[in-house]
Amino acid sequence: MDQDAAETGAAEGAGPRLKDNPDVFYLLREFETLYRFGSDGGSRAIRAHRRRVRETLSAVIARNPAMLARDAATKPITGHLSRALDLGERGAMGSMARALREIRARLTWEYGYERMPAALARKYAYCEVLGPRGPVSCEALVLGFVLFAPDTTYPQHSHPDIEESYVSVAGAWSENEAAVYAPGSLILNRPGEAHRITTGPADPCLLAYAWTGPAAALAAPGMTLSGTRTGRG
Ligand SMILES: [Fe+2]
Repeated sequence: MDQDAAETGAAEGAGPRLKDNPDVFYLLREFETLYRFGSDGGSRAIRAHRRRVRETLSAVIARNPAMLARDAATKPITGHLSRALDLGERGAMGSMARALREIRARLTWEYGYERMPAALARKYAYCEVLGPRGPVSCEALVLGFVLFAPDTTYPQHSHPDIEESYVSVAGAWSENEAAVYAPGSLILNRPGEAHRITTGPADPCLLAYAWTGPAAALAAPGMTLSGTRTGRG
């Protein structure tokens, strides 16, 4: 071990690092592939976002960071995860769905809002795979998944200073009533832009997401949901 690595190890502890967790490592490789080879649809803003995500992620993978311990947690919506993964494995995002299935027992599903509307608490949750809180430690990027039940309306929200992309893994969904998106579709939400998501009646919807922005914003997103509540998602 060289001196830098020794110092990093001393700072982050001698616990497991990314490459000690091959299933997590390969899931991140799926994100890297997705943001490297997917289309930008001719959009300069999407091209720039995709580049930021993949360059940050490539640097994280090369750095082989420490894994931060997080307790696994479920929410009512995770009863829909098996179906979402089954659907995902049949579609354009099959390799991402299969990689996620390998770590499903370790995921920390949570809500982004201190006071959740009761109806939404049964129909939505998200989990992070990389970010300031881990499990893969990174201050400049958050990667995760959000899962919705069929027939869900995720209320209008926005996140100042954070740029967000969603890529659907399974299910049909709409944002701001603008179109119906299928597995593989990418939507970019620029900082502060309000967005509202609805899902179709038949199946759950699983979206991969990426957040970029200043480290302070990613660590404390300060999202607003239909007004003044704060959280993330
Ligand atoms: Fe969002």
